Amino acid sequence: MTDSNKRPDDMQRITTPELAKAFIDEQIKALQEQIGDKKVLLALSGGVDSSVVAALLIKAIGKQLVCVHVNHGLLRKGEPEQVISVFRGEMDANLIYVDAVDRFLDLLAGVTDPEQKRHIIGEEFIKVFAEEAAKLEGIQFLGQGTIYPDILESEAGIKAHHNVGGLPEELNFELVEPVKLLYKDEVRVVGKELGLPDSMVNRQPFPGPGLGVRCPGAITRDRLEAVRESDAILREEFAKNGLEGKVWQYFTVVPDFKSTGIKNGKRTFDWPCIIRAINTTDVVEVTVEHLPAELIDHLVQRITTEVPGINRVLYDYTPKPPATVEYE
Ligand code: XMP
Repeated sequence: MTDSNKRPDDMQRITTPELAKAFIDEQIKALQEQIGDKKVLLALSGGVDSSVVAALLIKAIGKQLVCVHVNHGLLRKGEPEQVISVFRGEMDANLIYVDAVDRFLDLLAGVTDPEQKRHIIGEEFIKVFAEEAAKLEGIQFLGQGTIYPDILESEAGIKAHHNVGGLPEELNFELVEPVKLLYKDEVRVVGKELGLPDSMVNRQPFPGPGLGVRCPGAITRDRLEAVRESDAILREEFAKNGLEGKVWQYFTVVPDFKSTGIKNGKRTFDWPCIIRAINTTDVVEVTVEHLPAELIDHLVQRITTEVPGINRVLYDYTPKPPATVEYE
């Protein structure tokens, strides 16, 4: 591992299992040298970057790694379960699971301003994580899933912002960042070689504040559940139709207004569910994925019958600009 934050000009792009294996072997040695018999703490969200760092560290130092998975209640359906089954079940990791759902949702109740919502989620995440760290003894290092675009963007002043995993320096740990010189596509190749499931390795980008920014305005538990359930249906249908890993990002949003409808001959007054599916290379400009009409029909049918509280499905055809990807 190098101390430098500059990717060497001659560093080969990791595109094959062989190159990934060479990288993994080299990192395992470097990590063992850096860490010795000390302990490393890692916030494991279940996203690609932190999962790959966890899997690398497990290979290098086994139980000297302590992973903390904080469930803030804004994760997608099945995510906390997958983190537990992959890392505790299959990889035998030292994993602390923190159910902080009520804590976050209680704090967010009634908060409508998007930036305030982000701020609360970020601050509370740090608090929960610091509390867990304080319960542990002998931790000297903090693992982080920093990747090369993060370094480039923070150097360019674009991204002093946004990842909920951005932990404060006062925690006073030395950093362990084994994938910090890799691009996202390389992290995925390494993750696959480390044996992580495809659904984790090919995971689409997911914002730190999670479903919180897809439940615009004040988050309520019932509307949040409608976001989670409709998102799960959308992901299932994209996977079935060969769109997983092909479309950059896709999700649902349930805005805070109601309209009239009819179900089983009775009047309803429920929320709409908005589907967004976009493609991009840099997320600065974004185009809309044009879904087959039959798939849209099928999604409308499933979401309106399976998700409580939804009586209408809309498709967002707006590129970025003028619209951003997320609704808040
Ligand atoms: P926007 O909405 O700014 O989104 O067009 C661009 C990309 O960034 C993601 N995004 C976030 N990621 N924390 C994150 O970690 C955030 O607060 C956040 N806001 C947006 C978004 O999902 C998209 O991929």
